[in-house]
Amino acid sequence: MAAIVAPSVLAADFANLQRDVEMLNQSEADWIHVDIMDGRFVPNISFGIPVCEAIFKHAQKPLDVHLMIEQPENYLEAFKNAGAAHITVHYEACPHLHRILQQIKELGCKTGVALNPHTNAQLLEDVILDVDIVLVMSVKPGCGEQRFIENTYRKVKILKELINDAGAHTQIEIDGGVNLHNAQSLTEAGADILVAGSFVFKSNDPLSTIKDLKNV
Ligand code: DX5
Ligand code: ZN
Repeated sequence: MAAIVAPSVLAADFANLQRDVEMLNQSEADWIHVDIMDGRFVPNISFGIPVCEAIFKHAQKPLDVHLMIEQPENYLEAFKNAGAAHITVHYEACPHLHRILQQIKELGCKTGVALNPHTNAQLLEDVILDVDIVLVMSVKPGCGEQRFIENTYRKVKILKELINDAGAHTQIEIDGGVNLHNAQSLTEAGADILVAGSFVFKSNDPLSTIKDLKNV
């Protein structure tokens, strides 16, 4: 089955965000990945709630919101109101992950948990039935255009097994350094969703790059 493709607007032209979102509307992309960074959980600051709202105004596809922020519990409702269909929080930022997952669910959004490259996949064993999406960071979170971490394949296989053993329906999302060299191996390893930022937006023809990722 073709992977779900979620281009990240972090690599879009922020001065032409409407144009780039409309390009995604016309493309074969399934979701629009929205990276929120607070300058605390990760060193960079990307953009916040009003920009998410502006993207939502033009988007015809679900917003897949990835919160790289501390205390995400304080912002769940605001992001839901800004158009988030899925809200992904970082395992490392959530001492009360179970509670946060319930809150996301109560808002009517899909629940996501992101794992930093050093975070062991097995740590999700006790919550996996409450997780719709596990986002595997395949670069250090915080910026685009980094090199893909090869250990990701191993992690995807472990997660796949954990999900199957629990009888869960969790989807596995890969975020960072995704391109046409690794996309097929990732889906073969068990990835369901591919996020791609720079590979899509810095290509000469983003529409056909998205198509190529879909056809992997
Ligand atoms: C990284 C973000 C990614 C980023 C991926 O912290 O979570 O979504 O946009 O960018 P590329 O595809 O360029 O690695
Ligand atoms: Zn992301």
